[in-house]
This record gives sequence, structure tokens and C-alpha cells, in this order.
Amino acid sequence: MNIVKTISEIQKKIKKYKSEGKTVGFVPTMGFFHEGHLSLMDIAKEKCDIVVVSLFVNPTQFAPGEDLDIYPRNFERDEKLAISAGVDILFYPDLDEIYPKGYLTYIYTEQLSSILCGKFRKEHFQGVTTIVAKLFNIVQPNIAVFGQKDYQQAIIIKRMVRDLNFPIKIILGPIIRERDGIAMSSRNKYLSKEERDQAKIINIALKKAKEEFDSGIIEANIIKENIRKKIQTSDLARIEYIEIVNSVNLDSIKSVKSGTFAAVAVYYGKTRLIDNIDF
Ligand code: PAJ
Repeated sequence: MNIVKTISEIQKKIKKYKSEGKTVGFVPTMGFFHEGHLSLMDIAKEKCDIVVVSLFVNPTQFAPGEDLDIYPRNFERDEKLAISAGVDILFYPDLDEIYPKGYLTYIYTEQLSSILCGKFRKEHFQGVTTIVAKLFNIVQPNIAVFGQKDYQQAIIIKRMVRDLNFPIKIILGPIIRERDGIAMSSRNKYLSKEERDQAKIINIALKKAKEEFDSGIIEANIIKENIRKKIQTSDLARIEYIEIVNSVNLDSIKSVKSGTFAAVAVYYGKTRLIDNIDF
């Protein structure tokens, strides 16, 4: 595996692969890999000749006071995991390679970026679309793989790709969970033992919502209220939002149907967890 720090070097390598007729699959990440990240690398490997993974903790998607400074990092461990996943290039740029002095340009996908998580993390998705657009321009992959764990992020990126005519196919990978159902996340590391134990309720509540839908309940308000009640049985949980939305424009819906999904954000202490389930 090649570890590449500069834009010029990665572009040279990709150009060579493409001249040999090879396809490039790309997985953008902020590192501290878990099986969720590795599953996306597997998908890229299955679909393409060459797998490129980026590891960059992107400051523009963190608001002041969020966890940028303490975001978990362990490059040596990530390097080993990427090698064992069969990654060809690990792009690991420094901050000023990506945002040189005088950087001024941002990409913003309207509407989709100001609802759900965007209501509470105002500039977050602008940071995400900006870094992903930059990485797409740098890597120029044929496909890029994102996780359904961050469903809103994936939908916004799909829209950006369509709106800005990136010639890249976006593929979504399913949510990978711990054995007890909690969605894998680099941020789970922040949870105390008690918080970690109680956080299981999030997935239990979402699975129950799906069962309710399968048994014929379609009123979104009833299903949302039942999710709320279930999560509130965990005394450390502080619910930020519970929404049921369609998967094209993330509009809130009144009647649940297949193809819609329930999304939640819940705080345990200072740790913000998100999860979702498809109906
Ligand atoms: P990060 O949180 O490191 O996630 C990288 C990719 O892994 C994202 O596509 C995310 O949806 C996916 N992922 C995370 N947890 C997952 C899980 N449990 N199962 C399946 N996939 C999972 O998301 C980001 O980084 C950043 O916003 C980024 C897109 C890299 C832009 O900076």
C-alpha cells in the first residue's frame, strides 16, 4: 500500500492507473477505522481495480466547541487495517495541503443541509460537501462509497454529484453494527461504560419502529412518539431529534411507506450519536 501525502503525487499515480485502463474506487474517511469503514473498502475492492482511501479529519465540518481537537486518531493502527483491507493508496494529507493559506471557496447544497442534523450543526454539511468535492477533484474516482449510517450525508453528496455533474457513481454500504446493535462509530470511544450500555436502546427503538410499520401502523407521529418513549427509558439519553423522512429530499412525512426512513440524533453526555432505519 502506498501512503501518499501530496495532491500532486496522488494525481500522478491515479493518472497512471487510468492510463492502464484500471478503475478507481474511493472511500473518504476521517480515520480511526472500524468495521463500518472496512466494509466500504471491501465494496470498493469488489467493484474496482484500485482502492483509494482518504484519511483527513476535516476541520471545516466541525463547529467551534465540537470535538475536532479530541477526535480519535491512530494512524499506525489505521495503516495496518487499510493494508489488511487491500487498500492500494492511503491518501493522508496535511491540513495546509487541503486548505492552504487564503482558502476561500465552499460548496453548499441548499435545503438538504439545513434540516435534520443540519438544523443543529449549522455549517457541518457545507464542510462535508466542500471536502468531498475537493477529494473527488483530487482523486477523480469512478465510484465512491459512503455508509448509510450517515444517511443525510450520503443523500447530500448524491445531490451534489448530480447538481455539479461529477462523473462519479455513488454507492451506499449498509450500517455495520456492534453485536449489541449499536451502530459502529469512531465517536463510540467517547462513551462511558454506562452510557455505552444504555445507548443500545437507540437501535432497539428503531427496530421496534420497523416492527410497528410491518404490523400495519403507518402514522409517522405514532411511530415517532413510540421511538421517543423507548429511548427515554434510558435516563442518560438526551434526544436531539427523531424524524421520519423520505429518502429523496428528506421531507418529513405523515404516512410511513417503504423507502422512507426514521433518523435520530441522541446525546449521551457530550457524545452525539446518530442512527437510522429504513422502512
Ligand atoms: P467518517 O465518519 O470517518 O466516515 C467515513 C465513512 O464511513 C462515511 O461514508 C460513513 O457513513 C461510513 N461509516 C461510518 N460508520 C459506519 C457504520 N457503522 N457502518 C457503515 N458505514 C459507516 O463521514 C465522514 O467520515 C466524513 O464526513 C467524510 C465523508 C470523510 C468527509 O470528511
